[in-house]
Formats: sequence, structure tokens, C-alpha cells
Amino acid sequence: MTVDMTTTLAGVEFPNPVFTASGCAAAGQELDQFFDVTELGGVVTKSIMLAARSGRATPRMAETPSGMLNSIGLQGPGIEAFLDKDLTWLADRGARAVVSIAGGSVEDYASLAQRLRGRPGLSMVEVNISCPNVESRGQVFACDPRAASEVVAAVRKATEPGIPVFAKLSPDVTDIAEIARACVDAGADGLSVINTLLGLAIDVDTMRPVLGGITGGLSGPAIRPVAVRCVWQVHQALPDVPILGMGGIRTGRDALEFVLAGASAVSVGTTVFGDPTAPIRVLDELRQALADRGFARLQDAVGLAHRPPEPAVVTPDLGLELTGAALDDAEPAIDAPGAGGYAR
Ligand SMILES: Cc1cc2nc3c(=O)[nH]c(=O)nc-3n(C[C@H](O)[C@H](O)[C@H](O)COP(=O)(O)O)c2cc1C
Repeated sequence: MTVDMTTTLAGVEFPNPVFTASGCAAAGQELDQFFDVTELGGVVTKSIMLAARSGRATPRMAETPSGMLNSIGLQGPGIEAFLDKDLTWLADRGARAVVSIAGGSVEDYASLAQRLRGRPGLSMVEVNISCPNVESRGQVFACDPRAASEVVAAVRKATEPGIPVFAKLSPDVTDIAEIARACVDAGADGLSVINTLLGLAIDVDTMRPVLGGITGGLSGPAIRPVAVRCVWQVHQALPDVPILGMGGIRTGRDALEFVLAGASAVSVGTTVFGDPTAPIRVLDELRQALADRGFARLQDAVGLAHRPPEPAVVTPDLGLELTGAALDDAEPAIDAPGAGGYAR
């Protein structure tokens, strides 16, 4: 059975829903040695800032149970070098580039968006307002609805119409739906959910923090239930807003969890460090997982886990009384796979 894997994010159609995750595959050139990056839905680039930046003190990575902590601190070449080298490479290669931007002020973000205007290869802008690896928590715009909306409004204004702007949210907030709503009200066309969680590991031999930057961002399978919960809550609050979901995706089944929670597309991040073919493998596995469940289209699975529970089927064999009214009410909420596939 063939499955239509196309997905539409804020009016832009992508051939499939599997993307890389920002910071986990640079600008795709290294991954292209392992598989054709143009076969992915898109390549999400490492968050770029206005100026070149060396990042935080080493060590910057630590293994944790089912995950890792990183404190890279937005190391990068700066926007001009990025445009010349990385975005040009992606455009020449024919890949769909989702450019992630990060700044220390609203003006930084607006300038970055301005520099991206009219650039070939640009399919979407992801606004990283949620990086935990900054010197001050006050710089984590995604922890405050007003700060988040100011950044998003400035980026939306500076970005050409037709290029979706996605705001990337932090799970380290009390009410992620509130931040999501603030971003959408400010003009975000979609939401990337989630960035890493703020974490800390201490080496019990040296009796000091493992990371040079002390705290770091937790990623990998350890955070998947948190990420799925966030996608669920955001989709429930804003069912018409497209979500790029991520956090600990290793397999197509993991990706399907995000889709069922409400994501129209997914990013594969930390898994790439151990398996550089992971994004393309996840795409194949997701296609198969959908086919196995009778889906003809990816779109029909988006948010399906939110459907109301089916009424209990009461059978006389169980010695329970079955009334005509109960039978009449026992309509399945969705089509069963055997009855021609899922459709909504
Ligand atoms: C080493 C590393 C660097 C990252 N750098 C960025 C970044 O520059 N911008 C960003 O928005 N997210 C960054 N992230 C977060 C990922 O894009 C992703 O949101 C998060 O890791 C959860 O997905 P995962 O568990 O599949 O990695 C980084 C993650 C890791 C592990």
C-alpha cells in the first residue's frame, strides 16, 4: 500500500514530514555523504546568529541515561558566512532549507530575518527563542509570552510573505500552550516543539559539574514523553496551527507518536550522532508504520490520538445487558482500518 507522505506547513507543501533538527546536522553537508538530503522533507540548519561565535567552555557534551546534555552555546560562523557557504550549498543541492535563527535581542532577530529575504533555497524560518545554552535565563525569550511575541512579530514582519515562520518552544515553562498562543497571536505560522530541557550533571569523582557551561540542554529518548506531552498540549490548544515535533525520535514508531499527538512533521536530532542515516530510516519506517495501520495519507494521522474514546462494546457473552439504545450509540468514532482505512 502506498502512503501519501506529503505535508503542508502553513501553505508550503513538503514531499514528506521528516526533517533534521537544528544543531544536530549542521547544514546537511556531512549527512549528504550517507544519504541524499534532498529526499528529506527539509534540512533544519544550526541556529545562526549575526556574528561568528565560539560557543561555551568545554566540555560541552555529556552522556546521560537515554540521552545527552549539550552546552554548545550557539557556536557558528555568523550570518554572512552562513549565507555564502551553507545556504548556497543547500540551494545548489536542491534541498529545502529551514533556517534557524537566534539572537540576543529583538533587533538581532529582525536583522537576521532581513538578511534571509529573497534567498534561494529558503523554505521556512525557524526562530530559536528557546536555546537553554545562553549566559542568562532572561535571554530565553520562549519562557515569557511577551518577550516571545516581540521576537516573533519582528521576524514575521521582516520575513517575506509566503515563507512560513515557526517559533521554537521550550518545554521549561509552566504552560506551554500560553507561550504557543502568544507566538501565534504575534504572527507565527507554526510551532517547533520542543527544544532541549535545562539539565545538569555532576561528576561524583571530581565533584564538579561535568559541563564547562555547568548547565546544558537535555535531549534524546529520555525527553520523548515530555516532548509528546508538549505537542499534545499545543495541538489541543491550537488545533489549526502546524507543529514540527521533536524530542528523542529514534524510529518511525517514535515519529508516529508525535504525528498522532498533533505534529504535521518531525525533526530527528540526537539520534543522528549515533546513526547518521537515522532521518531517512525514520522516514521509511514511518511510511511503513502508517501503511501497517491502513492509512492512505499521513495527514489523516495528524492529531488522531485526540479523538474521543470509542464507546465500550458490550456483548451478551460477557453477561452484560445490551440495549437497543446502546447498540445504536456504538458507532465507531473513526473508520476501522479493515473498513477502507482511516479518514477524517
Ligand atoms: C548538540 C545539539 C545542538 C543543538 N543546537 C540547537 C540549535 O542550535 N538550535 C535549536 O533550535 N535547537 C538546537 N538543539 C535542539 C534540537 O534541535 C532538538 O530540539 C532537541 O535536541 C530535541 O530533539 P532530539 O532529542 O531529537 O535531539 C540542539 C540539540 C543538540 C543535541
